[in-house]
Amino acid sequence: MAGSVFGNLFKVSTFGESHGEGLGVIVDGCPAGLKIDSEYIQKDMDRRRPGSNKFGTKRNEGDKVRILSGVFEGVTEGTPIAMVVFNENQKSKDYSAIMDVFRPGHADMGFWEKYGIRDYRGGGRSSGRETLSRVASGAVARRFLEELGIQVKAYVTEIAGVKAEKRDFDEVSKNPLFMPDKEAAEAAAEEIEKAMQSKDSVGGVIECRISGMPIGVGEPVFDKLDASLAKAVMSIGAVKGVEFGAGFGAATLLGSENNDGMRMKDGKITKLTNNSGGVLGGFSDGDDVVFRAAFKPTPSIARLQQSVTRFKEDTDITVNGRHDPSVVPRAVVVVEAMAALTVADLMLMNMSARMDNVIKIYKEK
Ligand SMILES: Cc1cc2nc3c(=O)[nH]c(=O)nc-3n(C[C@H](O)[C@H](O)[C@H](O)COP(=O)(O)O)c2cc1C
Repeated sequence: MAGSVFGNLFKVSTFGESHGEGLGVIVDGCPAGLKIDSEYIQKDMDRRRPGSNKFGTKRNEGDKVRILSGVFEGVTEGTPIAMVVFNENQKSKDYSAIMDVFRPGHADMGFWEKYGIRDYRGGGRSSGRETLSRVASGAVARRFLEELGIQVKAYVTEIAGVKAEKRDFDEVSKNPLFMPDKEAAEAAAEEIEKAMQSKDSVGGVIECRISGMPIGVGEPVFDKLDASLAKAVMSIGAVKGVEFGAGFGAATLLGSENNDGMRMKDGKITKLTNNSGGVLGGFSDGDDVVFRAAFKPTPSIARLQQSVTRFKEDTDITVNGRHDPSVVPRAVVVVEAMAALTVADLMLMNMSARMDNVIKIYKEK
């Protein structure tokens, strides 16, 4: 199966299925000399872990990451960093009822029609567990960016139709929904409870803010910063849309309202507003990069739904087992991971944009 490799210079290659032996990733292209250890990576893994709050699935696995190579005495060696998480709690028998039936909202039908074979025990490569590999490699990218003064922070701005009105970033880690608004988080929790009681699920929106970006990261034409981030984030399961800055709202603004005015401040070019979301012409413009990703409701629901079998017969299905009423809280760290991987890659690519940079590396040692 193609499509499991991401990045140009900071390149990741992921593998594994939800109900196989395990999942993992090889990070190739991380420079030598970066301080990192498994505890640092595990912190991000724990934020993605199921069962970490009452809105998460009950599939409570340790999800302990093991670094197999590429790190010696807490420092990257410049060699491939291989990381693996072994599956401990497959419970395959929970899924036997859906062996021949395509679950609505899932990739089941596509896998069967495309490959003629499907791991019916769960989502396989399209399972939420696939994101373990993204989060492990994303933590390495995050550590790399930290050294350059770049921070990637995501949080939930809407869930179950309840919008965060505030951006109280201290609040994000204090509520199980990772919302920057305490009252909104409480109201949203009630809506999620209601959906759970009626055997249903809800969607939401994650906002991500990348701060500390220098001007000029991103390549013209196909590898623009916004295009690259959009591809990275759209590749996460259940994401149905991505917007930057004023986003879809820009479509109804006048040019005079949408353009961000500019001024010199302390010898630096600065923008007066950030409708651009920190990206102009595909390059970072020095402001925070701000984007939002819309997530659909969790497709696995215990309600009776209409479907078909792989033998092309109509049938009805209820999807039992362990599923989040919303994937949104657990996807926060996944969005951060994909953003960090994208920016780390483009930062390395940007180093070769100018002859004076190249001379610095080869002649001014
Ligand atoms: C972190 C994460 C966890 C997920 N967990 C579940 C889950 O427990 N149950 C489920 O039905 N879908 C879950 N999903 C969503 C499905 O994987 C996804 O909707 C499905 O593969 C179909 O792909 P699509 O929505 O991108 O078209 C999760 C997604 C993410 C990002």
